[in-house]
Amino acid sequence: MTVLHSFGDGLGVLIQGASRGIGLEFCRQLALDDQVTHLVATCRSPGTATELAALAAEQRGRMQVERLDVTDEASVAEAAAHTREHTDTLDVMVNCAGVLHTDDGLAPERRLADVDPEALARSFRVNALGPLLVAKHFASLLPTKRRAVFASISARVGSIGDNRLGGWYAYRGAKAAQNMYTRTLSIELARRHRGLICVALHPGTTDTDLSRPFQKNVPEGKLFSVARTVRYLLGVIDGLGPSDNGGFYAWDGTPIPW
Ligand SMILES: NC(=O)c1ccc[n+]([C@@H]2O[C@H](COP(=O)([O-])OP(=O)(O)OC[C@H]3O[C@@H](n4cnc5c(N)ncnc54)[C@H](OP(=O)(O)O)[C@@H]3O)[C@@H](O)[C@H]2O)c1
Repeated sequence: MTVLHSFGDGLGVLIQGASRGIGLEFCRQLALDDQVTHLVATCRSPGTATELAALAAEQRGRMQVERLDVTDEASVAEAAAHTREHTDTLDVMVNCAGVLHTDDGLAPERRLADVDPEALARSFRVNALGPLLVAKHFASLLPTKRRAVFASISARVGSIGDNRLGGWYAYRGAKAAQNMYTRTLSIELARRHRGLICVALHPGTTDTDLSRPFQKNVPEGKLFSVARTVRYLLGVIDGLGPSDNGGFYAWDGTPIPW
């Protein structure tokens, strides 16, 4: 069985931010794909990522779990170096790590008075700088001639053109920056990696820890399970063509304004 129909055999895939939520589900679905011969799953604490560890154990060597904290560049470099010991090519890279709120005080701002420089910096370090540092250290593993995808899971609230509600300064700003970095990467990386399609993807509101405190206002039928979201996102990745490089797309493939 395959979920990435448009790629060839012997696929190498990186899922960054795989301990839970959307990233973990990417690993679950890709583990069922016979064409994926090497799956690299990264997370910041492999010792506590029990569901990921159980999945990796079932894969008997086909799946490699590496420690990678996007706020610690040395860990990104080390994870890339370890990956190179197992494979020299990754055809699909998906950045899933993201933060909206934390137990120790990070929370989306309702109004300007709630804005806190340290919270803004924390959000930027994970949401914006994370995928950029992953690109910096892993891009040399992308193939230079054949089709490949570098995707960053972003959020519609990072769209400047689509911002009608305001608030959420740290998350909106960091996701807008993530989108800008994705677009900038799409230009530079495509010079060396001729078949590369570099995109930002909005998953839709998905039932994970990240959205849980905000789910009560989601209209009925609009809250996706992780399984549904990842099925959609894999479909979008599978259908991307050369002209999609540098774009921002929703779970159903429709373009989102910057
Ligand atoms: N869920 C939604 O409705 C929704 C909507 C729009 C966009 N998104 C985006 O989708 C992506 C995935 O979100 P999710 O819903 O799956 O969230 P989630 O369930 O809260 O998972 C967040 C993931 O990010 C990881 N992470 C956080 N900080 C990290 C760091 N410093 N280094 C490495 N990994 C780190 C977490 O690892 P730990 O387990 O170690 O904390 C966890 O694996 C995010 O980029 C999010 O912004 C989600």
